[in-house]
Amino acid sequence: MSIEPQELRRVMGHFATGVTVITTKDKDGAPNGLTANAFMSLSLNPPLVVIGVDKAAQCYSCFEPQSMFTVNFLSEDQEEVSRRFATKGIDKFAGLQWHAGRNGAAILDGALGYVECKITQCHDGGDHTIVVGEIVDAKASGDRPLIFFKGKYQRMPASSV
Ligand SMILES: Cc1cc2nc3c(=O)[nH]c(=O)nc-3n(C[C@H](O)[C@H](O)[C@H](O)COP(=O)(O)O)c2cc1C
Repeated sequence: MSIEPQELRRVMGHFATGVTVITTKDKDGAPNGLTANAFMSLSLNPPLVVIGVDKAAQCYSCFEPQSMFTVNFLSEDQEEVSRRFATKGIDKFAGLQWHAGRNGAAILDGALGYVECKITQCHDGGDHTIVVGEIVDAKASGDRPLIFFKGKYQRMPASSV
């Protein structure tokens, strides 16, 4: 069975996800990153996560074995941050509050939580690369996530958390 990419995107949009900004550093040490919802917890022991990175992303070359990334879980008031990190060719960090974590990648102010990782494996995944990261540090607090569903940003109802 073959399915048109547009229809596949529509179907996949029915799977609700959180929204993350994955930060990394380029070869000159400058902060870089992208908005991503292809993220999952993979293993507790050892502590591993998986992300999917588009081979066409400008920051793609930052994701190679032994390099670092941090997954920032966006909160419901960070829709603008999500849009910003999903926009090519801009200075994504201009005017943004952040600090470098233990692995050197950016931890964004206002995020619900983060996992700091070191890349251990990269696997081919069609037009994306499946990147496995070993967690070197992690923190979370707060309870109002930004949600992505049917191609739109959503928020949890006020009474649900
Ligand atoms: C809600 C949302 C989820 C996204 N998820 C991913 C993802 O999981 N992987 C990915 O490579 N791009 C994803 N993107 C697209 C990238 O954020 C976007 O293409 C970004 O500009 C790529 O980085 P670049 O500026 O370095 O090219 C997503 C965009 C949005 C709005």
